[in-house]
Amino acid sequence: MSRQDPHQLVLVLDFGGQYKELIARRVRECGVYSRILPGNTPLEEISRLQPIGVILTGGPNSVYKEGVPRCDPGLFDLGLPVLGICYGHQLLAYSCGGRVEACTAGSEYGPTKVELDTENLLFHGLTYTQTVLMSHTDYVSVLPPGFRAIAATEACPAAAIADDSRRLYGVQFHPEAETSPNGTAVIRNFLFNICSADGDYRLEDVEQRLIADIRQQVGDDEVLLALSGGVDSSVCAALLSRAVGRKLHCVFVDHGLLRLDEPEQVAAAFSGMELDFIKVDAADRFLQALRGVTEPERKRKIIGEEFIRVFEQEARRLGQGGSSLKWLAQGTIYADVIESGGSGSATIKSHHNVGGLPADMDFSGLVEPLRGLFKDEVRQLGRRLGLSEALVSRQPFPGPGLAVRCLGEITREKLDILRRADAVFRSEVETMRNRPDQYFAVLTDTRSVGVVGDFRSYGYTVALRAVRTTDFMTCECAELSYRLLNRAAARIVNSVPGVSRVVYDITGKPPATIEWE
Ligand code: XMP
Repeated sequence: MSRQDPHQLVLVLDFGGQYKELIARRVRECGVYSRILPGNTPLEEISRLQPIGVILTGGPNSVYKEGVPRCDPGLFDLGLPVLGICYGHQLLAYSCGGRVEACTAGSEYGPTKVELDTENLLFHGLTYTQTVLMSHTDYVSVLPPGFRAIAATEACPAAAIADDSRRLYGVQFHPEAETSPNGTAVIRNFLFNICSADGDYRLEDVEQRLIADIRQQVGDDEVLLALSGGVDSSVCAALLSRAVGRKLHCVFVDHGLLRLDEPEQVAAAFSGMELDFIKVDAADRFLQALRGVTEPERKRKIIGEEFIRVFEQEARRLGQGGSSLKWLAQGTIYADVIESGGSGSATIKSHHNVGGLPADMDFSGLVEPLRGLFKDEVRQLGRRLGLSEALVSRQPFPGPGLAVRCLGEITREKLDILRRADAVFRSEVETMRNRPDQYFAVLTDTRSVGVVGDFRSYGYTVALRAVRTTDFMTCECAELSYRLLNRAAARIVNSVPGVSRVVYDITGKPPATIEWE
């Protein structure tokens, strides 16, 4: 059986590295379609997908230990070009008969000088000395038969290895990371010099294909889209409306967990568009269902379930001849699929639009046209489809809304405090020229003593969070100025009753996540 995708494909086999998405995105940026699959994907599945090349990601393990993730060693005999990165480089060397050991000269972390064999196809066009990101405690100490070293650092004699005749390559460094300034050239060389890629992946073709796929999937049926007003579901709305026109019904649920003035803003953004926009006021039923619940994953499950029940209700109302409308469309994107364990990685948080749909829902079909796209591709697609820049560059807002930012039990009073503090912080951040990628307030469940005038107060602690990220899978805390933070904190404690303290979260991801719950 052959695969369905019309583009040439590069598979990214995941061994638990935090950079897997970055690798897959870099490949797509070079105009080659990529997909991420678990490292132990069976050879038959790999062959069925007919990739033009395979990239093995990094990962936290040591290849010589028991029970660590490995690929089938037969992968290296399929005749496919392979590029191993970090752990993938060590796995390649180990599987082909080389030796991997713990670094004796000390681990290498951070930007490191590397010397390259620029005659090799993998490094064509690069200069002899480069700075690359190294992050390893093991190294390839003995090369496998048929391989030679094509790069070295001071501490790592086989910083890259090659068996050109079998098109097998390994790099100890991370070419995908921004800390490797010319790393993309290495990936491009692998794709074009070694895998002979055509570079046939272009967003305009993707758009046409997605529209054709939607039409084929739903035929003449009506479709109900779960519209949150965020980037993903908005782009989904624009795409679906191209595909099915007025048969699209966009249902926007006000679950009482939205930000200040958000229901009105979303309604305004969609009011001028050629689609059926329906706003459902469901705050009472969501808050009732969440009463007394403190556990974050339970909150997510309850919200996911309530959403579906509201959509089912609307589907019955919109259905014709007594039968309910059967297609539910959602703006699920590739990151949701991966973070929900869809590619075999561990589930970190269940995203309600992937993992948490109730088994007994009335909808018989899901339409998720953006399931294979990365966030930046979704934004580009949105621009192509004519959505406003304000909508396309909106910061992400989670489906469960303020529920995952209001720690502990959710009450109307706490939500009101959070909404107001969040609006103040956002208005301050929005004065910046180079805004962070996501910024918001969190209402912690911790109360502390303060003084207001001559009186003791006992109010909540608000945590402010602002991060810089390209993929939302990893992030750094945004360096906001003290002046801005001071102003935000003063405005919040002075204007939002019930808050006595404001703190700024300076953790990156990993080890933290972006949301607190
Ligand atoms: P974390 O907290 O996992 O967040 O680092 C990564 C990105 O995902 C968003 N997020 C969610 N989005 N449903 C969503 O639709 C969720 O349950 C959810 N949890 C986190 C988060 O805002 C960030 O952009």
